[in-house]
Order: sequence, then structure tokens, then C-alpha cells
Amino acid sequence: MGTPGERAVGEHYGREGLEERISAALRSAGADPLAPSVEELHAVDQLHTRGVRATLELAELAGASPGERVLDVGGGLGGPARILASRFGCRVVVLDVTEEFCRVGALLTARAGLGERVLFRHGSALEIPFPDASFDLAWTQHSTMNIPDKDRLYREIHRVLKPGGRLAMHEILAGPSGPPRRFPLPWAASPALSHLLPPNRMRASLSRAGLRELAWSDVTPQTAEWLKTRSSGRPSGPPPEAFANLLLSIREGRATAVQALLERPEAQLDGNGSR
Ligand SMILES: C[S@@+](CC[C@H](N)C(=O)[O-])C[C@H]1O[C@@H](n2cnc3c(N)ncnc32)[C@H](O)[C@@H]1O
Repeated sequence: MGTPGERAVGEHYGREGLEERISAALRSAGADPLAPSVEELHAVDQLHTRGVRATLELAELAGASPGERVLDVGGGLGGPARILASRFGCRVVVLDVTEEFCRVGALLTARAGLGERVLFRHGSALEIPFPDASFDLAWTQHSTMNIPDKDRLYREIHRVLKPGGRLAMHEILAGPSGPPRRFPLPWAASPALSHLLPPNRMRASLSRAGLRELAWSDVTPQTAEWLKTRSSGRPSGPPPEAFANLLLSIREGRATAVQALLERPEAQLDGNGSR
């Protein structure tokens, strides 16, 4: 399923034996792998920089509210989705191109007792398998770095958002000196899988898709701090040198981290000035 590029992404993230490694990590942290709490899962399921703190910040920025329907695009193992469901009362669909993440993510969600509020769907962000205007909030957290066609991604997100719906994003972008040169990085073992735009081109792509910017913050300094102090690898994660390379890339001006909120405006003028 999917394009060759998407299959390569699935191979990058979908390592064999993931479920067993996560269960072992939970057990050694004193949790019951068959009935973990959402909080106990944080150590293994937040596949982005700055961990659960970044997820909570983004949810606050987005104004995530009870009953809202959320699409977590590239939602991985569902770590952010379970927080949106358990702490903010949202109903979340995780869409991800890595089949193993969908399978293990659904298992972890059922074991944490959230199977009715967080659903998983294996599929592509470039062909979102949902009808127009089906979500109040779209969410991308470190999931666009593997996607070359940003215009198509944001057109798809705009299409599935209801008018007035928001896109919350927390992403790694290229820096003032260009894209990273050191590999592996957490999202890509080689340049072929890494597709970072600088902030100005990312913003232009979002705007072309009809998404209006409500907030945009550079969170690179706090990301660099976190990278300096983070402990060793996660069971679902990349090798430690990938994080060291990300920190070096930030220092070289070749990576930045951004947290932003956009909206699909209630009514948009077409090219003729009518609604
Ligand atoms: C670094 S992980 C982040 C996972 C999750 N957002 C989190 O923060 O815990 C990136 C995720 O994006 C997914 N992804 C990359 N390209 C995708 C695409 N074209 N369609 C759907 N998911 C994609 C990957 O499979 C992976 O699960």
C-alpha cells in the first residue's frame, strides 16, 4: 500500500518486535504492560522532541475541547492522541502510514482503556481517507518531515477540516543555513527520506492551502535544551546518534522547531471575490 516513498517511511519506523520491546520497557519501569495508564505510556509513546510537555503545550495552544473530533495526521503510536482523549475529552482518529505503529498503537490504546475514544487508521496523509469537513482539529506533531509534497498535505488537511476548524502543528523545519547534512536523524536514516522546508516556504504552503495563521512560535532553544539532557533511546525510537545529529544540526543553523496554530476560515472568498 502507498507510494514507494511511503513504504520506505513505514520501513524506517516499523521495527519488528516493537510490542515486545515496549512491554519490556513498561515492565522494567514497574508498570503492568497489559493495563498501563496513559501516563505510564508517556516514556515510550511520545515520538517527538520535548516529550509530553510539548504535547500539552500544543493542546493548550489549540484549545482542544471535550467532544471535538481530532485527526492526528502521522500520529505514530498514538501517544499525543491518548492525551487529547484522556485529558482534553477529544475523540481522536490516528492516521499513519506505518502499519506496525497502527497495530501496536491500537493495542496500547485498548490496554489503557481508551479503545472507544482513539481509533487508528492505516493510510496516507496525502490521501486522507475521510470525507470533506469531518474534523474540528487536525494535529501534526513531527510527522511532516518525511513528506515531500507539503502543498498536497495541507490541501488535504484543509479539505477534511470543518470551516472554523484548526490545524495544530509542532514540526522540525530547515534552518537559516538550509536543511540538515548529518544523518541519521530521528526521522530519516539518509537524506532521501528527509524533506524539511524553511519556515517561510512552510508558511507559504500553508497559506496556499487556505489555512490562516493564528500563532507561530519558534521553539528551537527549548528543543536544543531538551536534546542536551534527554536520556537514552526509547524502544520505538531511533539510535542515540540521531538525536545528537539533530542537536548539531540546530547548532549549525540547519534545523529549527516550530509550534503553530492555523485555521480553515469560516468562509473564504474565491478568486472572483464571492463566497
Ligand atoms: C516521528 S513520528 C511522530 C509520531 C507522533 N506524531 C508523535 O509525535 O508521537 C512520525 C510519524 O509520521 C508518520 N508519517 C510519515 N509520513 C506519513 C504519511 N505520508 N502519511 C501518514 N503518516 C506519515 C510516520 O509513520 C510516523 O509514525
